[in-house]
Amino acid sequence: MDALRPLITAALAARQNAYAPYSRFLVGAAVLADGAIFAGSNVENAAYPQGQCAEASAIGAMVTAGKRTLSCVVVVGTGEALCTPCGGCRQRLREFGAPDLPIHLVGEDGALRRTVTLADLLPLSFGPDNLGLNHD
Ligand code: THU
Repeated sequence: MDALRPLITAALAARQNAYAPYSRFLVGAAVLADGAIFAGSNVENAAYPQGQCAEASAIGAMVTAGKRTLSCVVVVGTGEALCTPCGGCRQRLREFGAPDLPIHLVGEDGALRRTVTLADLLPLSFGPDNLGLNHD
């Protein structure tokens, strides 16, 4: 849990900066890659389908920094229900994460609510290895 704290702090800070005037559902995500933390928030848009999830923002920051391998993910949503990554983000995580990637679902108060793996969320997934790509 102690090792998780910096990731949780980064996700909570990102959540504070979320741009979600339409849903008012603030989300922050933080990912760990090669020991570095990358955070992202959801970024909504007046043209609703153009909105972007927090996980996509965090993955974008990671890739921009030249990293390619996820080793841990934290997601903080809004309210009581667990904020599990949407279907599209499960696939985005799969691009850079192995099936055993831990995904920690954290409450707005910073408390760890539940930990799942990517395989829990996206069983029998289709990933880069299906196309013969190994970006390690
Ligand atoms: N959202 C995320 O950013 N990540 C998730 O894991 C679930 C949903 C965002 C998308 C939209 O801006 C808002 O939450 C409500 O769906």
